[in-house]
Amino acid sequence: MKEIRIEEIGQNSEEEVTLKGWVYNKRSSGKIFFLLIRDGTGILQTVATKGALSEEIFSRIISLPLESSLWVKGTVREDGRAPGGYELVLSDVEVVHQPKEDYPIGPKDHGVAFLMEHRHLWLRSRRQHAILRVRAEVVKAIRDYFDGNGFILVDAPIFTPAACEGTTTLFETDYFGEKAYLSQSGQLYMESACFSLEKVYCFGPTFRAEKSKTRRHLTEFWMVEPEMAFAHLNDAIQLGENLVAFVVERVLERRRKELEFLGRDLTPLEKAKPPYPRLTYEEAVEFLKNKGIEMEQGEDFGAPQETALSEGFEKPLIITHFPASCKAFYMKRDPEREDLTLSFDIFSPEGYGEIMGGGEREDDLLALERKIDEDHLSKKNFEWYLDLRRYGSVPHAGFGLGLERTIGWICKLPHLRESIPFPRMLEKVYP
Ligand code: 4AD
Ligand code: MG
Repeated sequence: MKEIRIEEIGQNSEEEVTLKGWVYNKRSSGKIFFLLIRDGTGILQTVATKGALSEEIFSRIISLPLESSLWVKGTVREDGRAPGGYELVLSDVEVVHQPKEDYPIGPKDHGVAFLMEHRHLWLRSRRQHAILRVRAEVVKAIRDYFDGNGFILVDAPIFTPAACEGTTTLFETDYFGEKAYLSQSGQLYMESACFSLEKVYCFGPTFRAEKSKTRRHLTEFWMVEPEMAFAHLNDAIQLGENLVAFVVERVLERRRKELEFLGRDLTPLEKAKPPYPRLTYEEAVEFLKNKGIEMEQGEDFGAPQETALSEGFEKPLIITHFPASCKAFYMKRDPEREDLTLSFDIFSPEGYGEIMGGGEREDDLLALERKIDEDHLSKKNFEWYLDLRRYGSVPHAGFGLGLERTIGWICKLPHLRESIPFPRMLEKVYP
């Protein structure tokens, strides 16, 4: 007997097949009983009739609660009325597990708090199923992009001795009596590795003790961070732009059905082809002023500014040359404007804000030592990082792309909590 998954149903018309799954929904119409079954690949309408099944099996099917797990056998039939165009006429059913209690998530509208408490079950919904499939495709696309363009994967550590992105969002751990912190970014380690392999990237979870509740912040999120030796700001920008375009195109190609199920308008994604518009930080502040959104030159963009910039353009927007006052210690200064850095962010369109941040790194030993002192960072913890500037220092650049922000935009999710299987946020570590 041929065992198939639901996505293969169309290639098996008129054949007798078996498949495994869960009861997604059921309904009856006269003497016919319809059982909607889901597996990892989709949902299928199966048809139970008294003639084709034993009395015992038929009555068991009728009483099966939602989310019962089962194994079914039947004949595939093309039927325009069935969702997906095919149905399975059942000839045998074996129940793997029949729940004793009603499934907690029903068709009625549950609040987000309830769904988040039941995240372990909520993942079975069609919506979460679709988002998880998009997420896996985004990860694959990112890996394919770097692997196909001469980059070597290098894994960064999670326990780190010092801050990379500011000391206010560090998760501190007791590391055998010493302080260690959960990594905020693998960047410093990628800088080290690019002096060996030239083009490298890391891709893994990073942590920020974000104490604010926003739709854009998780305390644990995934970031891909490429780093290139012999590279300048513009090289990193071009790489970032091409990566975003590649990922969006790949998802449109391979996960279009999922995006359509999510009700995603595909037009903004189809428009995300390079080149992307560019503004300097100072031009962006002007752009905001003209829209009536005030801010001081030198300040970082807050949530309202991010949203306005991100909504103001049809394509992703590149902002360059941020003031040193709002960027981390490792950013290289603009040789033409000492108060500015060779940095850039990419903002997605449609109000999702910053998805990528990066730039050229300070490659001069003395300048970097000065910056570490100014920012009151402990030089002892950065000695290894300073060594990179002592032995064969070269211009180098890279960026970090936030995986969940990217998925949030691609799927147009109202909140990042749906972009990761088990979100970690302020007051949220269960389940
Ligand atoms: O701009 P960030 O803080 O840059 C860095 O960490 C650099 N060290 C990266 C590098 O150059 N290698 O973070 C990069 C991206 C942001 O643009 C955003 O997409 C995401 O990481 N990000 C978050 N995503 C979800 N929740 C949070 N709390 C995030 N903080 C940053
Ligand atoms: Mg940033």
